This record gives sequence, C-alpha cells and structure tokens, in this order.
Amino acid sequence: MSVRPVLGIDIGGSGIKGAPVDLEAGDFAVDRLKIPTPKKSTPEKVAEVVAEIVGHFADLIGDGPVGITIPAVVTHGVTRTAANIDKSWIGFEAEKMFEDKLGRDVVLFNDADAAGLAETHFGAAKGHPGLVLVATLGTGIGTALVHRGVLIPNSEFGHLEIDGHDAESQASAGVKDKLGLSYKQWIPRIERYFQTVEALLWPDLFVVGGGISRDSEKFLPQLTLNTPIVPAELRNRAGIIGAAWMARYRVDHPNDQLRVDQATQRLVEAAQERVEEAPAEPAAED
Ligand code: BGC
Repeated sequence: MSVRPVLGIDIGGSGIKGAPVDLEAGDFAVDRLKIPTPKKSTPEKVAEVVAEIVGHFADLIGDGPVGITIPAVVTHGVTRTAANIDKSWIGFEAEKMFEDKLGRDVVLFNDADAAGLAETHFGAAKGHPGLVLVATLGTGIGTALVHRGVLIPNSEFGHLEIDGHDAESQASAGVKDKLGLSYKQWIPRIERYFQTVEALLWPDLFVVGGGISRDSEKFLPQLTLNTPIVPAELRNRAGIIGAAWMARYRVDHPNDQLRVDQATQRLVEAAQERVEEAPAEPAAED
C-alpha cells in the first residue's frame, strides 16, 4: 500500500511554493507549484494563495494535514515576528487561521527550522548524532539548531549582535548582492559570523543552505573555522520537505503541544506557590 504524500508549503518574501512530499523518499512526489507572494503580504492575502495551492494538490493529498513554513518566529501557532512579510503577522494566531481557512490540520513553523529538519532527516545532516547548526543564507540569515535529530525551535542566531550590528544585516547573501560584494569581499563577513556562532554554541557540524549554497565551492573552503562546514543537500526543496515532515509528525504525536502547555502552566504555578510560601528574607545587614 502506498502512503499518501503530505503537502508542504513554503511562504517566502517573493514566492509561495508548495508540493506534495513523499516522506519515504524525502522528495517531492510531483512538481511543485509556485505563486508570487501578494504585494501586501497580509495573513488574509497569503491564506488565499495557500488555499489555491492546497486546492491544486487536493486529489493527491486527500484530507491529509498541511505543513506550512514562514519567515517568522512561531510559538504555539502564533507568529511572533515577520521578516520580509507584512508586519500584521506579528502576534497573529496564524496556525488557527490556516486551519479554519483550509478545513484540515495545519502545522505552522519557522522556515529555517523546516530546512533544518529536512536536512536532518533526508539531507546533509542525515543521522548526525551530535549538535548541528543549519544556517540558511538568503535575504536574511535563518538558523536551525538540531541536537541528536531533535530540533530546538526558533533559534534566531541570524540576529546575533556582532561588532555592534545585527549579524544578518552585515553577512547575509542578500547583503552581498545589495552591496555588490565579490566573494573575496564577503567571505570575511560570513567567516566572522560563523566564528562567532561556533564560539557560542560549539556545534559539531554547520550545514549551509539558501540559494548561495549552490556556489558553496566559492566560499566554504575559504572559511577558517574549527567546525566542519558542508553545503545543504536539499537546497530550495528543504523548506517544503521539512514542512511536510513536521505535518506528519504532528499528526502522529497529537498530544505533544497540549502537554507542553499544560506542563508549563503547572511548573509556573508551582514556582508561584514556592515564592508565596517562602519566609520573608531578613533585611540585609551592613
Ligand atoms: C528571520 C528568521 C528567518 C530567516 C530566514 C530572519 O530574518 O528572523 O525568522 O528564519 O530570516 O528567512
């Protein structure tokens, strides 16, 4: 019996792309569909495009779930930031909106996290038993931190402050293009970036994704780092494949989210009780 493919959708600043994914093979089941991101990329407008993509593949995916990635921090279904998309996403109950609009299970999460999961399960970090930092170099710098195959979500190491600047504003591939930097001029910037990250996280492996990873031989060998660094394998398919993987995972583990929320609440209440019960501190003596 063949298992139905799962739809992954990757919302980006310029295009919204989707494809049903064969999760046995870790690849698209059929060609992807790409639709330009609406000029004003509000949740409502983006949801229209997402619905069109779902409709296009409806026969293949049946009533299955949809995984969606977005260039934003997403905690418990709420988009908390918005990079290259309309600012009205910030603080928005986005996952629920997609579920209501599409009438099916949706999992929404960060685009770099999706790429990280895809590389971990099917690509350059497949089966890695240690700590992997996947960095997507595009307009910004996205990061996914994966330890022993488990994603630590919403790492935003593209925004480390380095030399007084937001790192991605100095070292992303987008900055290289915008300033017309040659590889020779850009390499010290990206090297400084990875050197800072490795000094803080001590990963076992860096995986570099994003469009520029296609030309990885032009810069990866030039970087002086302690950590091995390799190009991503899934390239621009990683977001969609990771999204589909996560959708399947969520369907198979429906109670995970619930338990996280309940556990957090229980621990916060217990801590509050401890604070209330604690005897007042004696006044400090000189
Ligand atoms: C955002 C991240 C995103 C990355 C890649 C950064 O500017 O803060 O959330 O993953 O860009 O799109």
